[in-house]
Amino acid sequence: MRMAESLRKALGLVAVLSTQVLGSNMNMHRGAENNNNNNNTADSDVLKTWWHPTGEINPTGRVQNENVRQSHIYGIQVAATSDPEHFFDSFVYESIPRNGNGKICKPDDPESFCDVDDQISIEADIGVDMAWTQYLANEDTVVRITRSEGGPVDAGDVVIRPTSLEFDIAIDGDDLLITVPFHENGHRFSVEFKDNLWGYRNAGPGLHSHYVQNKVPDADNYVPEYNDSMPIVGVEPLNALLIFMSPFPEDKYVPDLENDTYRVPQGLITSLKNVTESTLYFPPGVYWLTGSNHAILSPSITWVYLAPGAYVKGAIQYESHALDLRATGFGVLSGEQYVYQANTAQNYENIKSDNTSLKMWRGESAVGTRWTIHGITTNAPPFNSMDFYGDDLTSFSVDASDYKQVGAFFGQTDGIQMYPGSHVRDVFYHVGDDGIKTYYSNVLCERMTVWKTNNAPIVQFGWYARDTSNVTVDGIQVIHTRYNTQEVFWPRGIVGSAVSYLDQESTSTADVTKHLSDYRITNARCEGICPNLVGINPLCNIDTFLLSNISMEELAPRTTQVGQSTFRVFTDAVHGNQTVALGDNSPDNLGLIIEDFYVGGEKVSFENDNWQSDKLGQINFDPHWEGRWTVR
Ligand SMILES: *[C@@H]1O[C@H](CO)[C@@H](O)[C@H](O)[C@H]1NC(C)=O
Ligand SMILES: *[C@@H]1O[C@H](CO)[C@@H](O)[C@H](O)[C@H]1NC(C)=O
Ligand SMILES: *[C@@H]1O[C@H](CO)[C@@H](O)[C@H](O)[C@H]1NC(C)=O
Ligand SMILES: *[C@@H]1O[C@H](CO)[C@@H](O)[C@H](O)[C@H]1NC(C)=O
Ligand SMILES: *[C@@H]1O[C@H](CO)[C@@H](O)[C@H](O)[C@H]1NC(C)=O
Ligand SMILES: *[C@@H]1O[C@H](CO)[C@@H](O)[C@H](O)[C@H]1NC(C)=O
Ligand SMILES: *[C@@H]1O[C@H](CO)[C@@H](O)[C@H](O)[C@H]1NC(C)=O
Ligand SMILES: *[C@@H]1O[C@H](CO)[C@@H](O)[C@H](O)[C@H]1NC(C)=O
Repeated sequence: MRMAESLRKALGLVAVLSTQVLGSNMNMHRGAENNNNNNNTADSDVLKTWWHPTGEINPTGRVQNENVRQSHIYGIQVAATSDPEHFFDSFVYESIPRNGNGKICKPDDPESFCDVDDQISIEADIGVDMAWTQYLANEDTVVRITRSEGGPVDAGDVVIRPTSLEFDIAIDGDDLLITVPFHENGHRFSVEFKDNLWGYRNAGPGLHSHYVQNKVPDADNYVPEYNDSMPIVGVEPLNALLIFMSPFPEDKYVPDLENDTYRVPQGLITSLKNVTESTLYFPPGVYWLTGSNHAILSPSITWVYLAPGAYVKGAIQYESHALDLRATGFGVLSGEQYVYQANTAQNYENIKSDNTSLKMWRGESAVGTRWTIHGITTNAPPFNSMDFYGDDLTSFSVDASDYKQVGAFFGQTDGIQMYPGSHVRDVFYHVGDDGIKTYYSNVLCERMTVWKTNNAPIVQFGWYARDTSNVTVDGIQVIHTRYNTQEVFWPRGIVGSAVSYLDQESTSTADVTKHLSDYRITNARCEGICPNLVGINPLCNIDTFLLSNISMEELAPRTTQVGQSTFRVFTDAVHGNQTVALGDNSPDNLGLIIEDFYVGGEKVSFENDNWQSDKLGQINFDPHWEGRWTVR
C-alpha cells in the first residue's frame, strides 16, 4: 500500500514506498540464514556479487586471521531488474569499535591496556557496529535485506539516507526490498530501522561534555535514567548498514592481469619488497600482515588491484616514484589488526606520531605524480587514512572516485588528502577527524556522503597558514553527526579552520602575507541534528569565501554551542599586530558570502533578521567583521 504523502512527512520519511511486486521469493536463500558454505553469487555482465567462505559472525571479539567479520544482523541478496526473481547473495561485512581488541596499545597483546584516549567511549559497550555490502551492476537492482535480529520490518519504519535519494521500498514477508536505480556514479547509502536507533546524549549541558548511556550498568558513563539536562546530540542506528552499488569499472581501473603482474598468495604476507612486477594483484580471498607489519611495496609496484572479494588486513606503502600510481578494485583494505595510532617506527605501538603512525595509504611523491584510487573500501583506519610525502607535494594530485571509508570509530581518522589539482568524487566517509581536507589549490571535490562522529569539522581548512585558491566542494550530504563538545579553537561544524598546529599556544596569530581565495562550498545538505555552518580561526587573509545553498535539518542543542557559527579576529605579531584582512581583494569588500542558507526549511538571512546567535541561524561572528560579510 502506498502511504499518504502527509503521513510520510509526519513520520519524517522521504523514502517512497511502493507496491511493486517482485515475484515470489519464498524459496530463495535468505541472507541471514546463510551459513558459510553458501555460495549463491552473481557473476554476469549485468550483476556481480561475492561471498567470503570464511565469514565469522562475531560482534564483540577479534576474528581469526583467515576470517572476515560478517554482519550478525543483516543478510543481503541482490537481483537485477531484468531478472527480478533471481536473487543472489552479497556478503555483508561488519566493523566494530576497536575491532574486538579492547583498548590495547601493543599489537596482538590482549593485556596491553593503556590510557590513551582513542575517542571511543560508550560505543563498544552499547553494541555499535557498522555493516556494509558492495556489488556491481549495470542496470537497476533490487536489494533484499533480512534482519536476523529485530524481527519483521514495517516499511514506515525505514529511512534511507541521504533521504534525497527517495528510493522505492517495499516489504516482502519479513524482508525489506529496496529498488536501487542504476547510476553511472554508483550509490552509497545507509538503511536505517526505527527500532534500531540510538540517541547519543551528553552527560549535561555546556561546551565540553561526553556521552552517557543507560544500557549497560557496569560499563562507563552509565546513568540509570536520562533527564532533561542531557541533550541528544546525534541519532544513529546502533547496527549501521551501508550499501554500495557501483557500475562495472572502466578499463582504466582494471589492470591487465596477464602481464607484469604479481599475484599475491592468500594468507599471511611477510614481505612484498622483492616483487619485480608493476601490478600487485590480490585475487578474491583473505590476506593479513599482523598488527606489527604493513605492506611496504617494492619500487616496481605502481598499481595495487584488490579484486572484488579480496580482503586485505594491512596497510599499503608505495615505494615507487612513478608518475602514475593506482589503487583500484572493489576489495577491502582493513586496518582491523592495528592498535590505535600504530607507530611503525616504534613496534606498531600506540604512540602518536604524525609522521610514523600508520597511514592506510602512504607513498613518496615525485614531481607530477597522480594517484588514482577507485572502487576500494578502507575499513577501520587506525590513524589518518592517507598521506604522501616528498619534496614537492605541490605537483602531486589525487584522482579519487567511488571510494569508501567505513568503521572509522577511532578519533584520529581523517579523510584522504586532496593535493593540488585533485579531483575527489562519489566518496563515502565514516570519519572521526578532519573529513574533507581542503589544504591545497585547484581542487574539485564533489558528491561526498559523510557520516561524522565527534571530532573536527566535516570540511577543514585550518592548522597552517597557506596560500590556497580555487577550491570547490560541491554536493556534500551529511547523513549523521554526533558532536559532544565544541571547541572554539578547534571548531566542529560543516566547515572549520583550526588554530595553528605548529603553535597551539598562540590561538590568535595569523600570517597576513598569505591568502585564501576563490573558496566555495556549494549545495550541501545535513540531515538530522547538524552542527554550525562555519567556525573560523583565520590563519591568513580571506579574499573570497562562498557558502551557497546549504540546508540543515536542525541545529544542535543550543547549550552545546555546536550550532553556533564563529569567526574570530586574528592578528599578526610579525607585522605590528595587523589584523587579517577579510574581503579586501573581493568585489564590494565582502570576504565571506553566505547565500541560500536554510535551517529546518527556513531561509536564514540579514533580510529575515534571523541569522543572529540567539536566532535561527546562530551566527556569532566577532563584531570587528561587520560590513565584511553577508547572509543573503
Ligand atoms: C562459488 O561458485 C563459483 C561458481 O560455481 C565458483 O567458481 C567459486 O569458486 C565458488 N566460490 C566459493 C567460495 O565456493
Ligand atoms: C540529571 O541526572 C544527573 C545524573 O544522574 C544528575 O547529576 C542531575 O542532577 C540530573 N539533572 C536534573 C535536572 O534532574
Ligand atoms: C606489459 O606490461 C608492460 C609494463 O607495464 C608494458 O610496457 C607492456 O606494453 C605490456 N604488454 C602488453 C602486451 O600489454
Ligand atoms: C629478497 O631477495 C633477497 C635476495 O635474493 C633475499 O636474500 C631475501 O630473502 C628476499 N626477501 C624476501 C622477504 O623474500
Ligand atoms: C619521518 O620518518 C621517517 C622514517 O622514520 C624519516 O626518515 C623521516 O625523516 C621523517 N620525516 C619527518 C618529516 O619527520
Ligand atoms: C580550478 O580548479 C579546477 C579543478 O581542479 C580546475 O579544473 C580549473 O582549471 C582551476 N581553475 C583555474 C583558473 O586554475
Ligand atoms: C541546492 O542543493 C541541493 C542539494 O543539497 C540541490 O538538490 C539543489 O538543486 C540545489 N539548488 C540549486 C538552486 O542549485
Ligand atoms: C602585539 O601584541 C602583543 C600582545 O598583545 C604585545 O605584547 C606587543 O607589544 C604588540 N606589538 C606591537 C608592535 O604592537
